[in-house]
Amino acid sequence: MYAFLSTLAFVVCGASVRATSLMYTLRAGVRISSGGTVIIRSVRAKMTVPFCASLCGATCGAFQVSSMTDECVTFSERFHTKGIELTSDPEWTLGYSQSSVSDGDWTLAFRAQTGLNAYVYKTWVSDGTHHDSPEEAGDFPQVCLRLVDYGSCDRYFRSQILDNWEKIQEVRFSMVKSGAEVAYAVFNGTGTDRESWFHPSRIMSSSWQPGVTTDTLTRPEIKGYCGGTGTACRRFKLYGASLGCPKEWAYTVTIDAPYDACVDQGHWPTAGDPAQDFPVFLYSQSGRGGLGESAEYPLIQRADVMAVWVKFAWPPANK
Ligand SMILES: *[C@@H]1O[C@H](CO)[C@@H](O)[C@H](O)[C@H]1NC(C)=O
Repeated sequence: MYAFLSTLAFVVCGASVRATSLMYTLRAGVRISSGGTVIIRSVRAKMTVPFCASLCGATCGAFQVSSMTDECVTFSERFHTKGIELTSDPEWTLGYSQSSVSDGDWTLAFRAQTGLNAYVYKTWVSDGTHHDSPEEAGDFPQVCLRLVDYGSCDRYFRSQILDNWEKIQEVRFSMVKSGAEVAYAVFNGTGTDRESWFHPSRIMSSSWQPGVTTDTLTRPEIKGYCGGTGTACRRFKLYGASLGCPKEWAYTVTIDAPYDACVDQGHWPTAGDPAQDFPVFLYSQSGRGGLGESAEYPLIQRADVMAVWVKFAWPPANK
């Protein structure tokens, strides 16, 4: 469904605008009502969205324009920063800079790729790494934002959203293989932080339903378990009981180190070779996926890309 992002996309509700090489997404009928730090407030006849966007500049996170009063207000915060209150108001259009990739209402927050020999969780928690900041967005390789033809990508994408986990309504965890989404789960993001959303009790829809929400899973966490060399480092876990390597099963698990005891002992036949190429993203095609050689389920598969998308909560539209 989300497999054809070939370029930077900036369209929400059919509107987008580019100003001074920054890009903004527009949302009609919404304004920031409190909590924002105003940089500029300007009124002039026939105020336009592009003109207001041009006032927003490099350090600005959001702006809003009133069609009634010809007013432009720019703010230093991004609209989903903690403390910002939004309200629906048909007079105003809100513009905001955020992650550089969106697809409909979904915004890309994180993208990792197999075989890059870089730690996924370490990147996930590396506060301050923002590949979508105005300073960095221009230099970030486009190929590492793509969900097709990504073979030459050499790094992960981490949005500032991970450090501003506010107003998140839903989170889509997505596994991509050969340019197509092969498994996913959508989680209820309301009231979560950047790790707590990942729990089976929050799954609203998934290619792994119904089992993923009814099975008892072992520590279903992003952080998971990570031991030293010779043990295992497993993240983003929706994983069954500890039955011993040959019999284990999962819906998904990320091997996030160049070793994994079960793989290294030859018990997980489809898990690749983390020593050569980690991380390894494993997913079941439907139902439980067998990790071990004597698991009772169809064997788990390897994905190329793991992507996390978010959908923001907006005030309800005025009736
Ligand atoms: C999402 O979670 C919140 C908080 O737990 C809850 O109030 C809300 O009803 C949930 N939404 C859906 C659609 O399940």
